[in-house]
Amino acid sequence: MSVHPSEGSKVKRVTTHQLQMMKTRGEKIAMLTAYDYSMARIVDEAGIDVILVGDSASNVMAGHETTLPITLDQMIYHASSVVRAISRAFVIVDIPFGSYQGNSSEALKSSIRIMKESGAHGVKVEGGEEIQQSVERIVNAGVPVMGHLGLTPQSIYQFGTYTVRAKEKAEAEKLLRDAKILEESGCFAIVLEKVPADLAKEVSSQINIPTIGIGAGGGTDGQVLVLHDMLGITKDFQPRFLRRYADLANIMNDAVGHFIKDVKSNDFPNEDESY
Ligand code: KIV
Repeated sequence: MSVHPSEGSKVKRVTTHQLQMMKTRGEKIAMLTAYDYSMARIVDEAGIDVILVGDSASNVMAGHETTLPITLDQMIYHASSVVRAISRAFVIVDIPFGSYQGNSSEALKSSIRIMKESGAHGVKVEGGEEIQQSVERIVNAGVPVMGHLGLTPQSIYQFGTYTVRAKEKAEAEKLLRDAKILEESGCFAIVLEKVPADLAKEVSSQINIPTIGIGAGGGTDGQVLVLHDMLGITKDFQPRFLRRYADLANIMNDAVGHFIKDVKSNDFPNEDESY
């Protein structure tokens, strides 16, 4: 009998060690968000390296304006749905706002709940020096931690806008310092969101762990996008960094319109579609 999850299965699961090796050999890491079983299954089967159960679920799935309202219970629900779908990807879960800031015991408790109740492989936290103690406690408990610097959406009311961060020297220097602190604290990777490309490239060259960029140019060790944005499901969100790989909103709209027409005209169901 196999005692390790990937033993005996043909699919080789992605691990933090493999992600580190990818940085070492210059192979880019591809990461996308997912929040439910059906989407996660498609994304995993397509060969994605990392799935992020992002607190962007608060925007994308629940229609909130910010990521702040989503709860730990809701994140665990999304994460467990994703975990049931995957056989290869490394699954990371955002610890939501209010479940780790300023209290390392709470941070550890939230991480343990996520790992135990969802079966995910690691957690992500926003911030640098100010959450160092929390990161260290979570890492010491054996949980892989991904950092997140630059535009950190859980602090949106402090920033005031979603514009590019760290354009000024002082903020850029703090970001580089924070990246080094997160690395020293044991993070296995760091998301860099909406920062100048030159800065992201510099940070990526100065730390040994992988950086995953979103709106951070091509010099990071990997890229992440929100799945619903890159599939063209969220139509109103059009930042410069976003490349759309499909136009699913229009495809779905056409399909639904077609269904309505067929029902109204008695074309659906036909004899072949009936018992
Ligand atoms: O919640 C999320 O989707 C994220 C990504 C934008 C990195 O944190």
